Amino acid sequence: MEQPKKTTLLIKNIGQLITMQGPVPRLGNEMKDLGLITNGGIAVSVNEIVAAGKSDEVVGQASLAESCIVIDARGAVVSPGLIDPHTHPVFSRTRENEFEMRIQGKSYMEIAAADGGIRSSVRDLRNSSEEILIEKTKQRLDRLLSHGVTTIEAKSGYGLSTESELKQLEVIKKLNHLHPIDLVPTFLGAHEVPDEYRDNRSEYIEIIINEMIPKVVENNLAEFSDIFTEAKVFDIEESEKIQSVAKKAGLKLKFHADELTSIRGAELAAKMNAVSADHLVYITDEGIKAMAEAKTCAVLLPGTTFSLGSSKFAPARKMIESGLIVALSTDCNPGSSFTESLPFIMTLAGLKLKMTAAESFSAVTVNAACAIDRAGKIGQIKIGLPADIAIWDMDDYRELPYHYAVNLVSKVIKNGKIMS
Ligand code: NIG
Ligand code: FE
Repeated sequence: MEQPKKTTLLIKNIGQLITMQGPVPRLGNEMKDLGLITNGGIAVSVNEIVAAGKSDEVVGQASLAESCIVIDARGAVVSPGLIDPHTHPVFSRTRENEFEMRIQGKSYMEIAAADGGIRSSVRDLRNSSEEILIEKTKQRLDRLLSHGVTTIEAKSGYGLSTESELKQLEVIKKLNHLHPIDLVPTFLGAHEVPDEYRDNRSEYIEIIINEMIPKVVENNLAEFSDIFTEAKVFDIEESEKIQSVAKKAGLKLKFHADELTSIRGAELAAKMNAVSADHLVYITDEGIKAMAEAKTCAVLLPGTTFSLGSSKFAPARKMIESGLIVALSTDCNPGSSFTESLPFIMTLAGLKLKMTAAESFSAVTVNAACAIDRAGKIGQIKIGLPADIAIWDMDDYRELPYHYAVNLVSKVIKNGKIMS
């Protein structure tokens, strides 16, 4: 007879256990369903969840390993480890000067045109060693983890030459081994046109197509290809051209779409069957319809709108009511949104996107998993899934968005190991 798996970590007396069991993705009203168990418990064997249910039952049925660690949650809230499905964490120099310029009234695009923006991070990344990039990025991953995040998507896009894009993706690959957070790598060579090709953008596009994408795929350095589809960056035609090549080469698609203007990036993402389209502040009604039909996830980044000092936020309610798969993310990057706090994004989602706490939890767990093509594989407390768990210093899950600008994490567990 097969031996039951020995419990190596037991969490008991959980006041509210957010399992997120139930439909994946969560659409419309389903986003309110947290699969909540009151007075819950979780048993973990090595790196895997082996039981989740009422505390008494889980404790009663567990067969404890000799070295089993028992955590008494004493009524606290426990959730799946959060998933951040859109980040640009690999850079060296920060850009607080641009934040000050925005405070003084300059727009993101004005700053970009005046040699700031993405291209200033590109100059910096090209001059930064791999060691420095690893060190700096590691600090950001530590901060993400300490705020309850156990998996992120991480983009390149500050290299914009074959050599530097590969360098950035290598950093992501190395950190995936060096750091407990799981990183899902995305190639973003079409983040901007670099300084040296400003007068010859078509040549840069050819380099992306003929050099970068083949090398990224050959070296297995990315799972997704992303692009900044935006007026004055890559237009619809250029975006379709680049992303078609990426798709043919085997990369799944993501888009920065309709962030600053409405150029129908959402429609293109849907047409190309992208896994996600992100930002979507200026999405059209047709774009919402097309994304719902194509099941392209909408990754909303209210931290970006907030940090850009704008007051126009993505139409989240309309998206939820239209049956879109809605996820939330930090967009952690040195320019438009420098934060590693996904809980703060949940606060903004409440105030600015009018999403309830339950909807936000769905958006940073099961739906965020869909946005990185990990539907049903992470983002739930469920038997057989990796033991990625966050324990929160609160006894009602609605406190998380409400009690803002502080860190309410008490413990993070990644793959069954206690991180803090
Ligand atoms: O998602 N929009 C393009 N990319 C980032 C900003 C990157 C930067 O400013 O460095 C974003 O907002
Ligand atoms: Fe981004």
